[in-house]
Amino acid sequence: MPKVTIDNQTIEVPEGTTILNAARMMGGPSVPPAMCYYSSLKTSGGYCRTCIVKVTKGSEKDPRPMPKPVASCRTSVMDGMVVENITSPDLLEARAGVVEFLLINHPLDCPICDQAGECHLQDLGYENGKALTRYKFRRRTFEKIDIGPYIKLHMTRCILCYRCVKVAEQLCPGRVHGVINRGDVAEISTYITEAIDNEFSGNMIDVCPVGALTDRTFRFKSRVWFTKPMDAHRKCKTCAGKARIWLKGSEVLRVTVRKDEWGEVQRDSEGGPLWICNECRFHTKKASDWIIEGPSEISRHSVISANHYDLATLKLDVAKQRKKLEGKKVLLGEGPLNPNNV
Ligand code: SF4
Ligand code: FES
Repeated sequence: MPKVTIDNQTIEVPEGTTILNAARMMGGPSVPPAMCYYSSLKTSGGYCRTCIVKVTKGSEKDPRPMPKPVASCRTSVMDGMVVENITSPDLLEARAGVVEFLLINHPLDCPICDQAGECHLQDLGYENGKALTRYKFRRRTFEKIDIGPYIKLHMTRCILCYRCVKVAEQLCPGRVHGVINRGDVAEISTYITEAIDNEFSGNMIDVCPVGALTDRTFRFKSRVWFTKPMDAHRKCKTCAGKARIWLKGSEVLRVTVRKDEWGEVQRDSEGGPLWICNECRFHTKKASDWIIEGPSEISRHSVISANHYDLATLKLDVAKQRKKLEGKKVLLGEGPLNPNNV
């Protein structure tokens, strides 16, 4: 089995394991962020570049370093490979550049976005982004559209990670949804005016790392941190019926898949992903429809896991950014730094 060293920690992994999955096996802060890779969706990954790492030694046989940062979700481990992630300041700078690109067209509408509190881009921005943008051109804008009876698309928030397209391809026979056009005019769309009504289509909402695809039955009902996630199950003919219900008092405000520590759908004991059907997600909104197993464990990537953002460190960072900006033409109020203030 090949051995790989990531940020000075060595691990032995099965042949063919990617650097990202090797890092996940180790756990801890050296795991690169991933905005488009999703282990339960085949051929996902390779689109967003947030998972880049620096390979300083290719392998025992060929110890040359790789000339550029590589996408860890798409690069397999070689025996003797040495990888730097958080131990490389150059790499962190490159990742901050990727975040800047992802945020070029993304609106700063977190205060009104349903994904706030569980948005991977929000986490990525806090952890790896910069306080300012250098982008001065007009941003892309789109009308919000309903794609089917249950899903609302805010294309302005989409980062074109292709995860929803993989769900459409792999879970929904007769798919009508994908990416049209390419480059800076690429957008998620349905085929002409078709609506998405496949019984597993709701899973697109769960895989979307940002607030581009939202649940029309939950939109604007509550901030997620005011709800209580519980693992629950019911008898269902279409799916395994194992879901996460989000309660406010005794009211079920929404139903989602159960997610693991990487923000991906949990798997059953045989390794099959626990996708849920639209019946469980959209039509069983009474607590009595479910057998509640207990509070869900939210371990990572969410402000609903209390104290995920270490406020003391964040404050230090903001102070550091303010110091850097001294002398520049920036309006600094009491609130957080606003890129539009430049
Ligand atoms: S809508 Fe969401 S899941 Fe689909 S490509 Fe855009 S960001 Fe990814
Ligand atoms: S997670 Fe690897 S390129 Fe997006």
